[in-house]
Amino acid sequence: MSSPTTTKEQGLWTAVRELPSNVWSSVFRHPLPASDLDRAQTSFTNFFLHLHPVKVNRNTLRPVYTMGLGLISLFLFMILVTTGVLLMFYYVPSTTQAYDRMLDLRGTVAFGIFLRNMHRWSAHAMVAIVFLHMCRVFFTGAYKKPREFNWVIGVVLLLVTLFLSFTGYLLPWDQLAFWAITVGTSIAGYAPLVGSQVKFLLLGDTTVGQEALLRFYVLHVAVLPVALTMLVAIHFWRIRKDGGLSRPEGDGEAGAGIMKLRIEAETAAAPSRAAAALKNKVYGLQGFVRANFTKVGNVPDNSVYAWPNLLLAELFVFVLTVSVILVLSLLFNAPLEEPVNVMHPPNPAKAPWYFLGLQEMVSYSAFWGGIGIPGLMVALLLAVPYIDRGRQGVGKWFSRDRLLANTLFISMVILNVIFIIIGTFFRGPNWSFVSPF
Ligand code: HEM
Repeated sequence: MSSPTTTKEQGLWTAVRELPSNVWSSVFRHPLPASDLDRAQTSFTNFFLHLHPVKVNRNTLRPVYTMGLGLISLFLFMILVTTGVLLMFYYVPSTTQAYDRMLDLRGTVAFGIFLRNMHRWSAHAMVAIVFLHMCRVFFTGAYKKPREFNWVIGVVLLLVTLFLSFTGYLLPWDQLAFWAITVGTSIAGYAPLVGSQVKFLLLGDTTVGQEALLRFYVLHVAVLPVALTMLVAIHFWRIRKDGGLSRPEGDGEAGAGIMKLRIEAETAAAPSRAAAALKNKVYGLQGFVRANFTKVGNVPDNSVYAWPNLLLAELFVFVLTVSVILVLSLLFNAPLEEPVNVMHPPNPAKAPWYFLGLQEMVSYSAFWGGIGIPGLMVALLLAVPYIDRGRQGVGKWFSRDRLLANTLFISMVILNVIFIIIGTFFRGPNWSFVSPF
C-alpha cells in the first residue's frame, strides 16, 4: 500500500504533467471543432468569436460584395491605436518640444521612424477606406430599412475619422502641420453666427499655438478614439440586430417576415407535420434575436458556419492590411518639414488632402464652400435612408432599380474627387491655377 506522502507526490506530479493541457482547456473550453455542434459552440464560448453570429449568409463572404472595406477600416484603426500608444511614450504636446521629439523618432529611437510611418500611412488609408466603405454601402443599397440607423452611425463614424486625422495632423509641429491646421480651422471660422466661437473653442486662442496643440492632442489621443471605439461597437452590434449584412431580397433578407410566412404556409398545408416539427424543435437563446435567422423550421438556408469560414476571411483581410501598411512604411517616410515659422507661411498653404476639396470650394465662396455645401452634404447623407424608402435593388451593386440614387451619389463623389485633385495638383502660389506637368 502506498503511503499518503507518495500519493500526494503522485497527485502533484500528475498536476504538473497536465498543467499545459489544463491551462489550455481553461482558456479554450472546446477542442478544435469537428462537427457542426462544435462549430456553433466555439462561436458561443469564445469572447472574440461570440461577436460573430454562429452562421452567416454566403453573400457576406463574397469578396466582391463588401470588398472587406469595413473590416479593413477596423484593422487600420487597430494599427493606429497600437502605434499611437507606442508613439505616446515619446511625444510631448509642447510647442518647444514636439518637433524635437519628431527628430528623435527619426534619429535616436529604435524603429521610431518606422512607427511614425505606420501611424501616418494607416491614418491616411483609414480616411480613404472609410469613405470607400460608405460608397460600397450606398451602391449596394445597404442603407435601406432596417439598416437606416446604422448608416447614420456610419456617417458620424466618417466625421469622427476625419476629425481624428485632422487633429493628428498638427502634432508634429512642423510647417506642414502648422499651416494646414491654420487653413483648416479658418474654414471652420466661416460658419455664420458661431464661426468665430467654434474656431476659438478648437484653438483655445485666436491663432494656432500652445493651447491649440494641447487641445488637438487631448482630442486625438483620448476623446476621439474613445468616441470612435464606442460608435464602432454600436455599429457592429447593429449589424447583428439588423440581421447580418444586406443581401438580395429572397435570400433571407426579408428575414423574420418571410420566415413567418413560410411557417404559416407550412402550417396551413400540413398542420400536423408542421405542428410536430415545431413542438420537437429546440430553440437556442439566439433564436430570440429579433432579426433574420438562419435555421428555424425546415427552411432551406444559404448560410455557412462562421467558424472557420468567416474567421479565415477576416484573418486574410487582417494579414493583407498589416502587410500593405508595413510595405508602405518601409518604402515611404512620413513627411517632416522645417520647424514652425509663424512669419513664413508657405505659398500656397494647403489643408490636409481630404479637406482640399473644401479649400478649393472656399476659394470660390468662403461661406458656401466652407460651410453651406459641406453642411448640406452631411445633412443629405444623414437623411438618405429616410428619403429613399423603396426596397428595390438592395444587396446588388449598381442595381438598375436604383439608377437615380446611384447617379446622384456618384456625381457627388466625382465632384468631390475632382475638387481634391484640383486643390492638390493644380493650385500654386496665391491659389492660382498651375499646370503640374
Ligand atoms: C470607422 C469606420 C467604420 C468601420 C470600422 C466600419 C465597419 C463595418 C464593418 C466591419 C461592416 C461589415 C462588413 C463590411 O462591409 O465590411 C460594416 C457594415 C456597414 N457599415 Fe460600416 N464601418 C465604418 C464606417 C461606416 C460608414 C462611414 C458608413 C456609412 C455612412 C457605414 C455604414 C455601414 C452599414 C449600413 C453597414 C451594413 C452593410 C450591409 O448590411 O451590407 N459604416 N461596417
